[in-house]
Amino acid sequence: MTASEVGPATSRELPGLLRAWDEAFVLSKGRTLGFAQRLPGVFDAPVLENIVVARHDEAVIGAAVMKRLEWVSGGARSAFAAIGLVWTHEAHRGKGVASRVLERLLQRAETSGCAAAVLWTTLSGFYERLGFVRDDQSVIGIVTRSSAEPSPDGVSVAVASGDTVARRERIRTAWCAERVERSAADWRTLPLPCGEMVELSTADGYALVGVLNEKAYVYELYGPADQLRALWQSIRSRYGWVLVNDREGSASAAVLRAAGVVFERQALTLWKPLTVRERPHLPFLDRI
Ligand SMILES: CC(C)(COP(=O)(O)OP(=O)(O)OC[C@H]1O[C@@H](n2cnc3c(N)ncnc32)[C@H](O)[C@@H]1OP(=O)(O)O)[C@@H](O)C(=O)NCCC(=O)NCCS
Repeated sequence: MTASEVGPATSRELPGLLRAWDEAFVLSKGRTLGFAQRLPGVFDAPVLENIVVARHDEAVIGAAVMKRLEWVSGGARSAFAAIGLVWTHEAHRGKGVASRVLERLLQRAETSGCAAAVLWTTLSGFYERLGFVRDDQSVIGIVTRSSAEPSPDGVSVAVASGDTVARRERIRTAWCAERVERSAADWRTLPLPCGEMVELSTADGYALVGVLNEKAYVYELYGPADQLRALWQSIRSRYGWVLVNDREGSASAAVLRAAGVVFERQALTLWKPLTVRERPHLPFLDRI
């Protein structure tokens, strides 16, 4: 075969690329809503240098994306490159296409000042060949119930909207000295597999919960301990199946453990150090 060429995507290539990604990661798995809707922080105003494609005979045959995450830690700041949507057209797999796309993306991450690259995957072996190492502080807990539970007072529930972003941001800032900065578009992220984002609110707390049919995916839960308990009770009363994404050692994990949630450590986060070895926990909503 003619060697494929690797470089930044063009705006003309982007619609076809989104179709290929949607087919590979969404539609072929029986899911709905494509990445233009799921990752507005990446695709509303795409930075083409952060989207690397491989071309063969002028057709795109592979691609991956990097999203720059601005990390605030107390007074210090650093940047990480979150990598995702790593895909090679089926007819071109096993020929080093994805490896070359990733190498180019890692160069881009380094020259744009990212301290490390990070990605989340269930594949084992592939990324390690490029120098990625597994290091994950995430935990998940799954809770099911068979009978109805009472719903607590003082919790309001609505589909998450842009109107409450400033409030959520105030609460997140109060409870997370270390966090990824989020734009308005980032707050509209809709992780797979959920179909909509629901926000539960107390006086000084909130929970963001992705919902798909009767299943709920808790992405974040911030506030004072008594309100975390009320938010959790409200989530339990509304959904028969709940998956909680959390971090080892967080305030919410402690409250939920006390409420009976059994957490398991995750091993999906892979890091490629570029300039530093710092590896913070990156919440689900900041991932791609
Ligand atoms: C994973 C994927 C991107 C690899 O693309 P590729 O261009 O074939 O990758 P490369 O040719 O650079 O590397 C191939 C190597 O990756 C490894 N690899 C490929 N698919 C793999 C998989 N599903 N699990 C583990 N390792 C895998 C193989 O070890 C192979 O090594 P070999 O050359 O010794 O056989 C491609 O299979 C794909 O698009 N899959 C569907 C989408 C997907 O799963 N993306 C990753 C999401 S995290």
